[in-house]
Amino acid sequence: MDATVIVDDAIPFYMPSGNECVLFETAFRQGLPVMLKGPTGCGKTRFVAHMAARLGLALNTVACHDDLTAADLTGRFLLKGGETQWVDGPLTHSVRQGGICYLDEVVEARKDVTVVLHPLTDDRRLLPLERTGELLEAPDNFMMVISYNPGYQNILKSLKPSTRQRFIGIDFDYPAAEQEVQIICKETGLDRMRCVPLVNLARSIRNLKDLDLEEGASTRLLVYCATLMMAGISPLEAAQATLIEPLSDEESAKEGLLEVVRATFE
Ligand SMILES: Nc1ncnc2c1ncn2[C@@H]1O[C@H](COP(=O)(O)OP(=O)(O)OP(=O)(O)O)[C@@H](O)[C@H]1O
Ligand SMILES: [Mg+2]
Repeated sequence: MDATVIVDDAIPFYMPSGNECVLFETAFRQGLPVMLKGPTGCGKTRFVAHMAARLGLALNTVACHDDLTAADLTGRFLLKGGETQWVDGPLTHSVRQGGICYLDEVVEARKDVTVVLHPLTDDRRLLPLERTGELLEAPDNFMMVISYNPGYQNILKSLKPSTRQRFIGIDFDYPAAEQEVQIICKETGLDRMRCVPLVNLARSIRNLKDLDLEEGASTRLLVYCATLMMAGISPLEAAQATLIEPLSDEESAKEGLLEVVRATFE
């Protein structure tokens, strides 16, 4: 094995859709934070992992939830052996060490999180730690990345313009057909001839507007389907378990999906 192959192996596989890699790298070099938007399972997390490895940056991912506070990100004093000791949160850790701090589903986090994000994501690049009195300046190799799914967003949970407008935005969607075929082949080892109908099936499901699905079949689910097929499950059963059940609980919608699945495999 030559050296190039080893280097490639260390970088998680990511199939680009457009200029997102160049845009991300440029944002990093210019010290600009990035916001990734797109439906579930379309490659946002994989993209960040790929870019972090490509740029040689540590990646610190935080899955945001509705209880996540600013202190969870910055850190807090904890009791250790009778003494209180400051413990850095993941954001502070990233700012001190450099690398990418990736806040996944950031719209879920509590509103006070924006207070720490604002000075860090404009030209100041500062993280004030009120409790310790420190004012940390982000190093050149620190980058803030956030992602969210605009589909689930309700008006209460959307980001304020003053937060959104601190980020460069990259819109993600399901990959184009040929790219998606290559992704499924590469991720699962299923041969191309069997990947093509799967991708066509997913594209038909995504176009089924009248079933009222919350979201279409993701690339992630296609990878699951192909994985089951590679392990010997029949295409029909694999598709039922990955392209029907995870998409809906409604009998009528499931029947509609089954029709499309049958048309592909029977
Ligand atoms: N462009 C791509 N290149 C390589 N793999 C991809 C790509 N897009 C999707 N995948 C595959 O789909 C899977 C799901 O992608 P990923 O976890 O990045 O989705 P996501 O957009 O972060 O979803 P969520 O919003 O639910 O977190 C990956 O594990 C990978 O197998
Ligand atoms: Mg993700």
